[in-house]
Amino acid sequence: MSSSLWTLLQQFYPPAPTVTEKNLAAGSQVGKVFIVTGANSGIGLDLVKFLYPTGATIYLASRSLEKIDNAIAQVSAISPAPATPATLKSLYLDLSDLTTIKPAAASFAAQESRLDILWHNAGFGYEPGSVTKQGLEAHIGTHCVAPLLFTQELLPQLQAAAKSAPKDSVRIVWTGSIRIDINSPPGGVDFARIEKPTINKECEYGASKAGNYFLAAEGARRWGKYGIISVCQNPGNLYTPIWGNSSWWHIAFFRIFVLYPSKYGAYTMLYAGFSPDVNEGTNGAYIWPWGRIRPVGRSDVLQAVSDGKAAEFWEWCEKKWGQYV
Ligand SMILES: NC(=O)c1ccc[n+]([C@@H]2O[C@H](COP(=O)([O-])OP(=O)(O)OC[C@H]3O[C@@H](n4cnc5c(N)ncnc54)[C@H](OP(=O)(O)O)[C@@H]3O)[C@@H](O)[C@H]2O)c1
Repeated sequence: MSSSLWTLLQQFYPPAPTVTEKNLAAGSQVGKVFIVTGANSGIGLDLVKFLYPTGATIYLASRSLEKIDNAIAQVSAISPAPATPATLKSLYLDLSDLTTIKPAAASFAAQESRLDILWHNAGFGYEPGSVTKQGLEAHIGTHCVAPLLFTQELLPQLQAAAKSAPKDSVRIVWTGSIRIDINSPPGGVDFARIEKPTINKECEYGASKAGNYFLAAEGARRWGKYGIISVCQNPGNLYTPIWGNSSWWHIAFFRIFVLYPSKYGAYTMLYAGFSPDVNEGTNGAYIWPWGRIRPVGRSDVLQAVSDGKAAEFWEWCEKKWGQYV
């Protein structure tokens, strides 16, 4: 059930990124529309900074309009100003409250007819006892149930983009973590555990990231026929505000040995969004930092996907939002 030390080391200490902001020509994404969830901070904010010169329309989706406004002001102030700056827009959604998801998708649909890339980046680490507004285990509710609902609501715009965009360029990028390998329960997700409030922060966080891999794989199976790519990436181990609740010595230790600047996580996101390695043939893949297609390190998690658990988890998520939307 455990990952090999080699698999872990390969993700802790990755080789240099192969897709960076230098691979994205200025103005190259004019006419494209992107959504980045959790874009006001950390990896998501660095991703928006990299995308800014490309001329795309980018929706920064998060749970605080004030924080999004600050992020937009920060990105817009980049100097020297690019020749073809992106159009930056805010989109309110709170992934821990299912009632905000359809309105967010409806607000997007009222403004755009296409969606080229959806980066499911938002995430959080919850303490034991946590639940979402609708009483779901907090990690699974916020990282899996709500993002799947959001994606399904955005399917018309993803399909519309796939009809006219270059092949394999319309993508849904889910976010995994080394915690799948280290902390997720046997088989990635334990259906009995996720019916309860958070029991153990690391375990439920890891399970939700395995859940994201399941949704990526199942999304590829269901939506590949529309020309939509769905992959899951482990951004790497980055020093971002997500570590905010950890003790100083914990942070100091990890910063010395395993944490990288958050822009490296954005490189993994760029790879997932733009690398030609990601295509119809690799649809549903898992991506290691800073951009390598490799299997999830845990054989039991891989086996679970082969055994149909990804489809089972997808249906479990759909049932969970049923009564609220
Ligand atoms: N940093 C790492 O080492 C690492 C490693 C593996 C995976 N990841 C994953 O990478 C992603 C980005 O994390 P990060 O390190 O960049 O952390 P971060 O700086 O804390 O950014 C997380 C973003 O998600 C937003 N968010 C949290 N809960 C939300 C909710 N309920 N609804 C909408 N937005 C919400 C946050 O908004 P607020 O600012 O309002 O909190 C923030 O914008 C997460 O999915 C995380 O699990 C991170």
